[in-house]
Amino acid sequence: MRKIIIAANWKKYLNQEESVSLVSQLNDLFNLKNYNHQVMLFPDANHLPSILKEIENKYGLLTFGVQDPSFINKISDLLSDTFYEKISLSIVGHSDRRINHKEDNDTTLKKFSELKNYSGLCPVLCVGETEAQKNDGSTLDIIKKQIPENINSSKYSNECIIAYEPVWSIGTGKVPNNKEIETVLNSIKSLVDENVKLFYGGSVDINNVEKLLEIDLIDGFLIGGASTNFESLLGIIKKVDKFLEKTN
Ligand code: PGA
Repeated sequence: MRKIIIAANWKKYLNQEESVSLVSQLNDLFNLKNYNHQVMLFPDANHLPSILKEIENKYGLLTFGVQDPSFINKISDLLSDTFYEKISLSIVGHSDRRINHKEDNDTTLKKFSELKNYSGLCPVLCVGETEAQKNDGSTLDIIKKQIPENINSSKYSNECIIAYEPVWSIGTGKVPNNKEIETVLNSIKSLVDENVKLFYGGSVDINNVEKLLEIDLIDGFLIGGASTNFESLLGIIKKVDKFLEKTN
């Protein structure tokens, strides 16, 4: 049975009060009904202690992560061990780090490897081409370089997700067509083991999620802007539910 994971990358969109309130609303929702899929939340790391205090997470469907491994050290002082155990994921290689923090591919791959080998957290590795790279036809080459060569080696045993996020699509409302996404996901699939999950991210919202779900290779979505508001996120969750009810 196909399952879809919805991952919400809140970046710096919400203040602490808003993050806590959105998590409480989601928590209430998931405690009412055992939805058939998992929601991963990536709030501002500084908000995690307050958020984790709030939630009951009866069905264990909400999972939490940091937006980059660099936040793990920053927040470890703020989190007691029990809370720390509730963090199971880390985004790595988001275009914000690659572009605004000038982190090159080697830095990202090193962070990825450290996450896999030492942290026990599941990395959500973001890969994707810029607009210029798309235009000069180098998308697949660029993405191949962004995936660690030894991603399938046995020492990398914890779970791993690769999110295809074209840089030109993030926060712009522009989304590649399904054929283009499929071509990239197929190429990633040929490089990684079966158990690596594939996400799409970049301007996913309530209006385009159904169309994107037609891509069988998609195991989940990494959603920024459209995940920062309860109605919009719930709308996406419901559309995913409806689609899966129809097709599963
Ligand atoms: P977006 O962001 O959904 O707002 O395009 C996606 C992301 O930054 O991961």
